[in-house]
Amino acid sequence: EKGGHDYFMLKEIEEQPEALANTLRGHFDHGRIVLDEQRIADQDLRDVDKVFVVACGTAYHSGLIAKYAIEHWTRLPVEVELASEFRYRDPVLDRDTLVVAISQSGETADTLEAVRHARGQKARVLAICNTNGAQIPRESDAVLYTHAGPEVGVAATKTFTSQIAANYLVGLALAQARGTKYPDEVAREFAELEAMPAAVQKALSTVDHVRKLGREMADSKAVLFLGRHVGFPVALEGALKLKELAYMHAEGFAAGELKHGPIALIESGLPVVVVMPSPKGRGVLHAKLVSNISEIQARGARTIVIAEEGDDTVRPFADELVEVPAVPTLLQPLVSSVPLQVLAAEIARTRGYDVDKPRNLAKSVTVE
Ligand code: F6R
Repeated sequence: EKGGHDYFMLKEIEEQPEALANTLRGHFDHGRIVLDEQRIADQDLRDVDKVFVVACGTAYHSGLIAKYAIEHWTRLPVEVELASEFRYRDPVLDRDTLVVAISQSGETADTLEAVRHARGQKARVLAICNTNGAQIPRESDAVLYTHAGPEVGVAATKTFTSQIAANYLVGLALAQARGTKYPDEVAREFAELEAMPAAVQKALSTVDHVRKLGREMADSKAVLFLGRHVGFPVALEGALKLKELAYMHAEGFAAGELKHGPIALIESGLPVVVVMPSPKGRGVLHAKLVSNISEIQARGARTIVIAEEGDDTVRPFADELVEVPAVPTLLQPLVSSVPLQVLAAEIARTRGYDVDKPRNLAKSVTVE
């Protein structure tokens, strides 16, 4: 049933193109983005003046990524918050606030309580969920199902990339309602999303190379992950995967923060995984990351660089180069996350751990 794979997680990583296609299917009809169970009136969607995204763990990372797209497309301020923090402070919510609650299982206790709190304050709540009829969608005003299919591995993989795509649909639906994007622009963005299953399929051609890297890195004491812009939450997620599966100390940083502390951690032989932006889309950021990499390499770090194919400027600074297909900047997390998932799984397997059932973790966290 693992489809010839050593562990379910690898099968689920490889299912991502199909999962993404399923997330997007049916959501563009007669030139418009349509959500699933939409019990929020169009007028109320137009009146939204602030967005909160609440979630835990990997789902939270998908929200951090979505913030870049939703703010860019809608010009609405977006706050992304851990559900466990959100519910214990006094967030400013009212009927013009849209709260997007992201949960694969739809049962996470903190996220559910955040939904209840938000609804109690009259905010509109939209759930992004992978499980039909779960509690969080039942208690929300609108639901967007990710349709990624069941995920057996405890570590979220295909549901993570599907959550990113679903968040982007919410962003486009808001842009459409508010008129911050013309219908032809919304159509173009949707078409770019629709091209992603094929791009992720190409990114999967890195699997063998990354598994080899994982075997080589299995004895490391720690691994650092660096990124900028949408690559920053990708780095956070890469580190989370490695912690939970390989029980290895891993941390993700915004590359611009290096000089403010983390660079002191760099020592000879330390593996540092860098998520590069495209040299085209965000040229300035690209140049800054190249300079960061050259600095950490000069201090003896082993650099493992995830970069767009054909990015030759970064090559001299990459001890290992993993090339992913060129895609629009906001969509890069969908391809750059793939090698990080594989890396964590393979390091864990090499260390002798059960990749699908990491210790101390449950697939659905129904207690705080
Ligand atoms: C990590 C992982 C967890 C979940 C988190 C939220 O691989 O799976 O961090 O993302 O427990 O779970 P859901 O999405 O079910 O609310």
